[in-house]
Amino acid sequence: MRSWTPQKLRELKGKRAFATVTCYDATSATLIEALEPGLIPLVLVGDSLGMTMQGHNSPLPVTLDEMIYHTRCVARVLRSPMVIADLPFGAYQVSDDEGFRNALRLIKEGDADGVKLEGGERCVPLIRRLVEAGIPVCGHLGLTPQSCLAMGGFKVQGREAEAAKRLIEEAKLLASAGCFCLVVEGVPAALGTAITKAVSIPVIGIGAGAQTDGQILVWQDLLGLNIGHVPKFARTFATLGQTIQDALRAYAGEVAARTFPAEAESYQ
Ligand code: KIV
Repeated sequence: MRSWTPQKLRELKGKRAFATVTCYDATSATLIEALEPGLIPLVLVGDSLGMTMQGHNSPLPVTLDEMIYHTRCVARVLRSPMVIADLPFGAYQVSDDEGFRNALRLIKEGDADGVKLEGGERCVPLIRRLVEAGIPVCGHLGLTPQSCLAMGGFKVQGREAEAAKRLIEEAKLLASAGCFCLVVEGVPAALGTAITKAVSIPVIGIGAGAQTDGQILVWQDLLGLNIGHVPKFARTFATLGQTIQDALRAYAGEVAARTFPAEAESYQ
């Protein structure tokens, strides 16, 4: 068992705002694991890996086997933060039985500590079943990327009063179904605050303002590893893409000048 549990995360609500990140590979997980304990209490192996790792323009093509593979890479390294894995598009839409079996695979084969799924009321029966079986579930409301076709893209949700009210009700439904936390994405900041106040479970925001219990950022956005579009809500805390390109230029230059490898880097 990892040090961070749903119970410990819950205790943070109202005490301190916490940061969480996505992660898809063992190298990055090693960097997270070596941080001060508790700095990042939860890591999400998100189906955003369809974009960040696979080069798709949505998470829709990501398969359950791919999620299990990436979850295992991350879970193999992490001992402290809890590892939550996304049920990808198609893994829980056909039937609750299939969703249940697929969630079990993320736990048993991926070594995840819990699963995340997108949607409100329609997910409640599956969430109840998973929770009864002892699987921690994180809900996801607002801009739900797996619905990008229906939403007409990655669009901010809950701008109108009726839609905002509906999202607050759905957050309450998910909390009473047993979700241990909730990701709220792409909603006006005031709605992010209202949802956070409406439920007793931690709300992790992304593009939902500064008053949610925690925040989550996609690894590549946070570290400046993306060349091109960065969403309005993401802040780039480093420019690693630039650093990597500088290193590649320096390496290519030394190879061309035959100054790499040096004698100390060669076998005699
Ligand atoms: O897939 C993902 O990475 C996510 C986060 C952005 C919340 O769902």
